[in-house]
Amino acid sequence: MQNQQLTIAISYSDATQQERAAALAQELHLPLATTDTEKAGYKFLLEQSAQHLAIHWYKEEGILTFVVEYLTGSAAHRRQFGGSTRQLIARAVGFKKDYHPTIIDATGGFGRDGFVLASIGCQVKLLEQSPFIYALTADGISRLNAEEPDIKLSVEHIDALHFLPTLQDNEKPDVIYLDPMYPARSKSAMVKKASQFLQALTASYPMHEHQLLFSSLEHAKKRVVVKRPNWAGHLANFTPNITYQSKTTRFDVYTCGN
Ligand SMILES: C[S@@+](CC[C@H](N)C(=O)[O-])C[C@H]1O[C@@H](n2cnc3c(N)ncnc32)[C@H](O)[C@@H]1O
Repeated sequence: MQNQQLTIAISYSDATQQERAAALAQELHLPLATTDTEKAGYKFLLEQSAQHLAIHWYKEEGILTFVVEYLTGSAAHRRQFGGSTRQLIARAVGFKKDYHPTIIDATGGFGRDGFVLASIGCQVKLLEQSPFIYALTADGISRLNAEEPDIKLSVEHIDALHFLPTLQDNEKPDVIYLDPMYPARSKSAMVKKASQFLQALTASYPMHEHQLLFSSLEHAKKRVVVKRPNWAGHLANFTPNITYQSKTTRFDVYTCGN
């Protein structure tokens, strides 16, 4: 089982959170670690506190902790200083002053890209296959919704390859956005904290990225946007219609008329 390979359990910061933690453990089919001895048996702990859900990763060199935050930290900084509607990601999805596409982000992750698109006015639904990443992202979104109800960002725990074919014509989004895990480049590259967690938590999942592209092309109304590092080739060697490129990142745009 994927969950067991990862040696991950749910814990809580104090007794007031025990019930919430137990409900989450049941939902994710994970053990609830209550004592310090029990907790010590796991490499990752998802810890419920009154403020948020955090993930702790017990590494040889120390504990790495991560919480999905949209209104503080790097997501807020990106929104404040890079969040204009002229940024590449906005242009890639076709955003215009009078056209705010509906978007399914089929590789939702921690929703950082989805948040950028939702905060400029798009309605964004994230799909996330990993229960742990989903739980952390859903927690971040519930706090975001409480503070900023006008930002339309939601997440569903599902495999996009199962979800996309269920869409009726009137449910198809204008855009399907894909940010598959990048092919590893070199061991020496410093990987940011969120990316380290994404890689560790999804290591046991097969990445059907080619199928995702072809399924997305069938189910988006207007375009599919694929985020790639500049040095990587086109997904599935499939040539895009338009490319938007910065120093490090590329958005390959495939237009479609469904
Ligand atoms: C590189 S991360 C995306 C990061 C995201 N763009 C962000 O801003 O946080 C890729 C994510 O896609 C998810 N994923 C990959 N294939 C999927 C699928 N078929 N259905 C749903 N999620 C998938 C992985 O579990 C992982 O969390």
